[in-house]
Amino acid sequence: MEADFWHQRWSTKEIGFHQAEINRFLKGYWGRLELSSGSKVLVPLCGKSKDMIWLAQQGHRVLGVELSETAVQEFFAESGVTPTIDQQGAFKRYASGNIELLVGDFFALTATELAGVAAVYDRAALIALPTKMREAYVKLLSELLPSQTQTLLITFEYLPGAAEGPPFSIDAEEVKRLFGESCYIEPLESQYFDLRGVDATEHVFHLNYR
Ligand SMILES: C[S@@+](CC[C@H](N)C(=O)[O-])C[C@H]1O[C@@H](n2cnc3c(N)ncnc32)[C@H](O)[C@@H]1O
Repeated sequence: MEADFWHQRWSTKEIGFHQAEINRFLKGYWGRLELSSGSKVLVPLCGKSKDMIWLAQQGHRVLGVELSETAVQEFFAESGVTPTIDQQGAFKRYASGNIELLVGDFFALTATELAGVAAVYDRAALIALPTKMREAYVKLLSELLPSQTQTLLITFEYLPGAAEGPPFSIDAEEVKRLFGESCYIEPLESQYFDLRGVDATEHVFHLNYR
């Protein structure tokens, strides 16, 4: 999807993907990664997800990346904190406590921004991207993330043609196609999910970069 599509979504508040509550799979499975509490977690395409607050509460340093400055401003405003703002390379950086959010294009990230990342939390990031961008997203992560990085990945699938993405349908086969070469893939849970009237199955995976 082009940047304009997402800017439009944020300006018209069409953000049905945003969750008022902490994601239950995050709470249920994060412990599987066995990270030390101070480790750094990348949240790609982060929106204004409250999951970042939960991750910070676990003692993690959180690095979010988001195209929409509106989303980032709303995140801090709704958290009731005033961030510091500066420029970091191609990104405008908003930071407070152990949360820093980079405003800009995920595909402009370099190894500099991702240095020290120990884990990735992907909820509604991969599924937001059409096939070519999805492949570029996976390639960038596998090239730039430190080795041994772990990922908690949440996707969902629906029958072909049942809905028009985003969100795009990503089943276990697609996860294997995308990550099979670079990661060990452990499926954790699959569960029925009502995607605005479309029958869908939500999948949770633990990925370990080789
Ligand atoms: C489906 S939403 C998911 C947001 C968040 N992960 C959540 O769980 O609420 C996808 C987000 O990715 C952002 N986005 C899309 N393309 C991007 C890009 N190339 N770089 C950074 N952010 C992007 C959009 O603005 C949008 O907020």
